[in-house]
Amino acid sequence: MSKNVGIIIGSLREGSFTRQIADNITPMLPDGYTAKDIPVGDLDLYNEDLETDTPPQSWTEFREAMKDIDAVIFFTPEYNRTVPATIVNAIDVGSRPYGSSIWDGKPAAVVSASPGAISGFGANHHLRQSLVFVNMPTLAQPEVYLAGVNEMLDDQGKIHDESTLQFLQTFVTAFVDHVEKNTKA
Ligand code: FNR
Repeated sequence: MSKNVGIIIGSLREGSFTRQIADNITPMLPDGYTAKDIPVGDLDLYNEDLETDTPPQSWTEFREAMKDIDAVIFFTPEYNRTVPATIVNAIDVGSRPYGSSIWDGKPAAVVSASPGAISGFGANHHLRQSLVFVNMPTLAQPEVYLAGVNEMLDDQGKIHDESTLQFLQTFVTAFVDHVEKNTKA
């Protein structure tokens, strides 16, 4: 069966390394899997007072777009050893109204990237903590921590290192297997 994979990217920066990483990984998805960019940068900041019959349009559009999504890959940079506000806000907006979470049961994976050596480990694991709470079965292995991303990408945003490409393909294959096993019939 065909699947739509939501691609959520935590960086809003033009020239984002995290986005370039996503652009290298999504073409590795097999036939029948379609990557759909889910922008989260323009989502109004979550405020429970706005959770009325007429919530902000940005929330409604996001929640509608997520209805067609079968699984999600989160691509996160690390800000101050944790997840950037973009992703935290998207999780909050998607998790409400209570009982109507758009995340519930959808298989997920996390990819963290940084120019630094610690490769977004803190962001990766803080994000996993929230994904447990919103009930997204999240791929355990292989974990994807990409250090030194600025060196990994060429001027066109391409990865050339063969072992990195092989590793990322292994990740994509494991993710697809994970999605198949965790999709309700
Ligand atoms: C950073 N950066 C960073 N890097 C890291 O490895 N650990 C961290 O805790 C932080 N903290 C941090 C906070 C803030 C506010 C900024 C703006 C940046 C550096 C970060 O990894 C770098 O800017 C990346 O290039 C961001 O990812 P994109 O935008 O290239 O995808």
